[in-house]
Amino acid sequence: MENITDYETVSLDTERGALAIIDQTKLPGSFEILYLTKQEDIHRAIRTLQVRGAPAIGVAAAIGLYLAALEIDSDVYEVFYGKFKAASDYLASSRPTAVNLFWALRRMEEAASRNSDLPVPRIKELLRAEAVSIHDEDIRVCRAIGEHGLSLIKDGDGILTHCNAGQLATVKYGTALAPIYLGREKGYNFRVFTDETRPLLQGSRLSSLEMSSIGADTTVICDSMASSVMKNGWVQAVFVGCDRLAANGDACNKIGTSGLAIIAKHYGVPFYVCAPTSTIDISARSGADIVIEERPPEEVTEMWFKERMAPEGVKVYNPAFDCAENTLVTAVITEHGVIRPPFGEKLAELCSRQEK
Ligand code: MRU
Repeated sequence: MENITDYETVSLDTERGALAIIDQTKLPGSFEILYLTKQEDIHRAIRTLQVRGAPAIGVAAAIGLYLAALEIDSDVYEVFYGKFKAASDYLASSRPTAVNLFWALRRMEEAASRNSDLPVPRIKELLRAEAVSIHDEDIRVCRAIGEHGLSLIKDGDGILTHCNAGQLATVKYGTALAPIYLGREKGYNFRVFTDETRPLLQGSRLSSLEMSSIGADTTVICDSMASSVMKNGWVQAVFVGCDRLAANGDACNKIGTSGLAIIAKHYGVPFYVCAPTSTIDISARSGADIVIEERPPEEVTEMWFKERMAPEGVKVYNPAFDCAENTLVTAVITEHGVIRPPFGEKLAELCSRQEK
């Protein structure tokens, strides 16, 4: 087994002219890198979670859209842009909740439209540069989130995390797991508890793989065990990632995040949401404005066990995300620092600074 942390989760392979991703559906059993060139394959990779996690999805879509631009044969801008926009809309239909997908595609669209006076071959070069900078920025942003997050914990602390908001959800470092990566670089020891995260087990398959591969003391727990470990006093902080942060600080993340936040509040454990500014959706006034993806019932009834896990024909409710209400969030950690409640004005100010 290769050490997954030696590889970027998602990148542009220039030689192959391909999007390179670690196939996360195969982890932790086997390590495979996929080189994708066709739009249908890139769309499927996002939809089926071969590449997943809000920032990683955004980077994959940006590189995917650059590859789509290369395939467009017309040098007439209007024709080129029409096909380019259709490719962007197609990639945008792969998953509905993580706002980084739409954010990255919009950045690519703007890179094309603000240069509409240039020859199409030059626009394609600028699209490559934009995709590469979305990729490179992700590494810098995650490292900064790690530094701010690390300032909130100390050597020896117990950290609980949900889903996977580690390196595999970004290009490198992750968001919620970045403080642990940076702490390990300084020689700190944390006791990391990873919720298994039903139904797709991103916690037990991915987070525990990442954390154990860097030598962190790692314990997998079923989602239903979180209150026990908190009651035992083993957890000093909860760190989670975010798929979309509403203007009021409601944090939409993998299903189970809301329940975890409620338990953390009950036990007085700080609940930190790690989110790049690209995850803030100022147009969503609260979590109620966020589209929650519903996924196929088979993920609940048929995956992971040899036998069916529920009777044939039984009804299944399988939302992929929920929202931790802002009153449950101790702080939001972005690349610019730690934001404490009330969130509204501070998030708005951050977004307007970003636009300038
Ligand atoms: O369905 P997934 O695996 O894409 O969900 C991922 C999460 O919920 C992550 O916590 C979130 O994207 C933040 S990743 C830094």
